[in-house]
Amino acid sequence: MSITIKTAEEIEKMRIAGKLAAEVLEMIVPHVKEGVTTNHLNELCHNYIVNEQKAIPAPLNYRGFPKSICTSINQQICHGIPSEKKLKNGDIVNIDITVIKDDYHGDTSKMFCIGNTQQHAKRLVNITREALFLGIEQVKPGATLGDIGHAIQKHAESNRYSVVREFCGHGIGKNFHEEPHVMHFGKVGEGAVLKPGMIFTIEPMLNIGKRHMKVLKDGWTAVTKDRSLSAQWEHTILVTTDGHEILTLRQEEL
Ligand code: MF3
Ligand code: CO
Ligand code: CO
Repeated sequence: MSITIKTAEEIEKMRIAGKLAAEVLEMIVPHVKEGVTTNHLNELCHNYIVNEQKAIPAPLNYRGFPKSICTSINQQICHGIPSEKKLKNGDIVNIDITVIKDDYHGDTSKMFCIGNTQQHAKRLVNITREALFLGIEQVKPGATLGDIGHAIQKHAESNRYSVVREFCGHGIGKNFHEEPHVMHFGKVGEGAVLKPGMIFTIEPMLNIGKRHMKVLKDGWTAVTKDRSLSAQWEHTILVTTDGHEILTLRQEEL
């Protein structure tokens, strides 16, 4: 399988799926606070996706994943499983939402800071968002995947953070994950050339400490080996004839 070019009809469905995923993140904002369990956030998102959006939460039962969203706290890099654990003052948490609507996927995540988060944690969260947007700015026909990875890696490392290498962005459409692999590190001019109609996610994970990770015994939760804090932000991006369109953009980002 190679990188597919989406048709106009497919792009329209991806716009709808992307918008729904973004709206789940907007809906959940007032609920993400000290004392709430990640299971409660999971339940609110699940019910909203199923009952209001008439859509499907893609993570649920995906390769055996047991919940409808991913919630990754502090040293957790990604794929955290919602639980009865309560968010506490100072935590940083990523909420990753993927919905399926009319057979097509929208995938997006953002970080939340709970209460009085320390400056060093807030800095990580902000630099990681900047890294995502510097990667997105590279997206246009004729640019390469390496251009995206390079922009992200440069911003991370020049701010003394490391980039997780085991997970990457991905093509998306009827499949949750398809070609290409979108690395968050790389060299300018290397890798596949971008063409209008390609759709993929960019979802950099940056650590305060070393880049190395391990997966917990639950088989899912990826954490930093050195237990340093990790942050991630994700958008689903369409390559257009003259640049890109962010399919999962939220109101707050306009
Ligand atoms: N949403 C994640 C991504 O950005 C994938 C989660 S897979 C799951 O690719 F099974 F953990 F949900
Ligand atoms: Co993704
Ligand atoms: Co995601």
